[in-house]
Amino acid sequence: MIIRGVDITNFRNIARATIAFSPSFNLIEGRNAQGKTNLLEAIYLFCLGRSFRTRSLDEAVRFGEEYFFVKIAGTSDSGVDFEMEAAYEREGRARVSINGKRAAGFADAVGVIPGVIFVPEDILLASGPPAGRRAYLDYTAAQISLMFLRDIKEYRLVLRQRNALLERAARDCAQPEGIEAWDEAVAAKGAAIVRMRLETIGEIARRAEKFFGEIVGEPGGFRMEYACSFSPTLKEPETELREALARAREAERRRGYTMAGPHYDDVRIFLEGAELRRYGSQGRKRLAALVLKLAQALAILERRGERPVVMLDDIFSELDRDTAARVREHLTGGYQSFITTPRANEPGVPGDAAARFAIEAGSVSPIA
Ligand SMILES: Nc1ncnc2c1ncn2[C@@H]1O[C@H](COP(=O)(O)OP(=O)(O)OP(=O)(O)O)[C@@H](O)[C@H]1O
Ligand SMILES: [Mg+2]
Repeated sequence: MIIRGVDITNFRNIARATIAFSPSFNLIEGRNAQGKTNLLEAIYLFCLGRSFRTRSLDEAVRFGEEYFFVKIAGTSDSGVDFEMEAAYEREGRARVSINGKRAAGFADAVGVIPGVIFVPEDILLASGPPAGRRAYLDYTAAQISLMFLRDIKEYRLVLRQRNALLERAARDCAQPEGIEAWDEAVAAKGAAIVRMRLETIGEIARRAEKFFGEIVGEPGGFRMEYACSFSPTLKEPETELREALARAREAERRRGYTMAGPHYDDVRIFLEGAELRRYGSQGRKRLAALVLKLAQALAILERRGERPVVMLDDIFSELDRDTAARVREHLTGGYQSFITTPRANEPGVPGDAAARFAIEAGSVSPIA
């Protein structure tokens, strides 16, 4: 996948920008608070189906303006050109179109441009709460296979409907009528999610282990395992989830939401035998997060046969020289990349960027 260019109007501090990108490295230079992350955020909207920074797109509308507009033009690895547009008015819904045809929303754009982003806060993948690791896994799954994407959407839908029923029942101090049918649906879709996540971990783990071994210079140090909240053995997730829901029945009726399911699961990461979240150093956590992203990119590429675009938001300054050089090596594996930095010519930043851009107060200009 190659992003040929973007057109941006009123997105955060970017009033107007029309940018044509290089199919290989794109280096975006600018001092702090000039709009580097804003530019990546605008592009990545189409990969993730929402902003990676906020739940409310209102925040992304330029101060004093009423709407933003982002258009992206790309070419798939098989040579098919496409265009996507998103227009968002304050307090409204995003209007998204793909090749001129109106889509239901951003969610429909997910999967068109496979993308991998690495921002400094991604260290939370290793040390933060489970939600971040679930999101990482589900996003990877969705980028690998459209079938996985469908599983995720269906699970969210049944969960939402079951929660709505429980919430009404809790509010009215009544029995949730017909909950058994939703138990069945949550158990079936929940088990599908678990299977999908296990398969995805399988895809990621062996690649991550290889990257980790290459970077630290010793093989065998990286391990990942799925920690299922309702099925420790992972033998019969569907039956076990049905039983867990039955056990939670009374508590759910009082609290008004679903209390068992893969939305409580986690992924455990072990480095050199010890659980990373508890025992890992800062540097190892950062490295593990990075390795997870490299593995994500490679899994998407190999499973889907489409190169993801890679975005690195000012990460080289946080890595030591050797690690930065190795990361750089892996990224020359043919991905189109977008790399931001507050310093030109810093070590580890590809000096031979095929295209360089300067960004100042939201205005982007190519550097010859
Ligand atoms: N909705 C908005 N409208 C206008 N300006 C905004 C909006 N949201 C954020 N900004 C401005 O964008 C700037 C920050 O941009 P961004 O986060 O892209 O900086 P950056 O270049 O990545 O900086 P750093 O190197 O510190 O990460 C700030 O000056 C902020 O005030
Ligand atoms: Mg930034």
